[in-house]
Amino acid sequence: MFNLENKVAIVSGASRGIGKVIAEETAKAGAKVVCVSRSLSDVEKIANTINEQGFTAIAMACDITNGEQYQEIVKSVIEKYGSIDILINNAGVTKDNLIMRMSENDWDVVIDTNLKGAFNGTKAVTRQMMKQRSGRIINISSVVGLIGNAGQANYAASKAGLIGLTKATAKELASRGITANCIAPGYIETDMTNRLPEKIKNTLVEQIPLGRIGKATDIAATVCFLASDEAGYITGQTFTVDGGMVMS
Ligand SMILES: NC(=O)c1ccc[n+]([C@@H]2O[C@H](COP(=O)([O-])OP(=O)(O)OC[C@H]3O[C@@H](n4cnc5c(N)ncnc54)[C@H](OP(=O)(O)O)[C@@H]3O)[C@@H](O)[C@H]2O)c1
Repeated sequence: MFNLENKVAIVSGASRGIGKVIAEETAKAGAKVVCVSRSLSDVEKIANTINEQGFTAIAMACDITNGEQYQEIVKSVIEKYGSIDILINNAGVTKDNLIMRMSENDWDVVIDTNLKGAFNGTKAVTRQMMKQRSGRIINISSVVGLIGNAGQANYAASKAGLIGLTKATAKELASRGITANCIAPGYIETDMTNRLPEKIKNTLVEQIPLGRIGKATDIAATVCFLASDEAGYITGQTFTVDGGMVMS
């Protein structure tokens, strides 16, 4: 278990799925976690559970597509805790369709949330992290950003964009002691994948050398490592956490 004691971590999309587990696991590792999503009541539930278990979390509502709102959230975190050490850009949405049927709005919503949302978060924390001369930025991409997927042009473009954003951030902020890395999960067991018919799940598993769908804890463990002091010499990288599905 990696030690994140005395670190302040912001996790976007912490109300459910992978983000919820990242919030729980970073809190267990000792971080003070700021759980962010659009629904305050949903993130409050997660933060309350974390606090009841003896760890530390607070909840804040923010639509990450709105840069000004994100700046306000970061300002209040700095007022409360005095630092921001870790940013996990996890919030993401899908609006799948074939390109010829995909509306401009569905394109925009996915790019605005998955890519601009991560840029807004990164921009909001950068000044503070530069002042501290340390920080960890972790973007949650997807294997779809590496290999594409029919019916997901908007999602694949947003997730590939995150990899470019990660590399640019890493190069721009390395001299200030800030690292930026990306995680590209494969198929992870969440509400979304649980809804898939058994036949499709079995076909998916057949494509995974390790023979199982991933767990949110598989992603959270990689986050805890990348957020830790031990990962201080790693920046600008993308880690596929996918049971070996995509090997480059
Ligand atoms: N599940 C998988 O198999 C898988 C595979 C590869 C990559 N990923 C990536 O992993 C991340 C988490 O996936 P998941 O399956 O856990 O997703 P999920 O269960 O659908 O959760 C998405 C989270 O993002 C938040 N969110 C959405 N739009 C937002 C906005 N505009 N502002 C703030 N928060 C927003 C949601 O909360 P609110 O609705 O309350 O805002 C929710 O907390 C995503 O980036 C996804 O693309 C997932």
